[in-house]
Amino acid sequence: MLALAVLGSGKGSNFQSILDAVRDKRLDARIVCTISDVADAFILERARRAGVPAYHVDCSPWKTKLEGMGEERVLELLREHGADAVALAGFMRIVKPRLIEAYRNRIVNIHPSLLPAFPGLRAWEQALAYGVHVTGCTVHFVDEGTDTGPIIAQRVVPVFDSDTPETLHARIQEQEHLAYPEALQWLAEGRLRVEGRRVFRD
Ligand code: GAR
Repeated sequence: MLALAVLGSGKGSNFQSILDAVRDKRLDARIVCTISDVADAFILERARRAGVPAYHVDCSPWKTKLEGMGEERVLELLREHGADAVALAGFMRIVKPRLIEAYRNRIVNIHPSLLPAFPGLRAWEQALAYGVHVTGCTVHFVDEGTDTGPIIAQRVVPVFDSDTPETLHARIQEQEHLAYPEALQWLAEGRLRVEGRRVFRD
């Protein structure tokens, strides 16, 4: 069974989809801890309600990356809880080489676009502004770049004329909640093989 730690900064709807998949036995994992860089993030409340150890880690002085003392504390918590993989679920910081090397091809992220289009922040707004007619979500391994790691799975979402950033993000999130637990189950089954940029599902 996969010992999975989840890192997030926000409302934690992807985390909830992971918890639900574990409960429904669609995901053969144990959530060992949940960590947030935001003290009052709802993801921590979801963890507490589910009986999962929940931690706020102060990541200052940096605003956009996980480095130094914060990174150290996260590594310590992951070790303490015996995590063998990490799921980023709306974690809004760049993960740096120390953590990546400690968990090479064991850190997974969900991103709200069809990468490599629209990396970075508020990808659904970028998609609307660009005028694409389809976008989606991507589950990928985390490497040293920003949203550049080998792609595990993608789901396509249409963009409608009537869309606002909110309606488009909501439609993308419906697909995220299906794609993420499914991809994590492949990881739990040991089926994912990375060769260069490509991920094969054996
Ligand atoms: C999700 O849409 C996720 O793809 C995105 O943040 C949202 C978190 O929602 N992540 C990124 O943009 C990472 N670059 P959630 O807290 O409800 O899971």
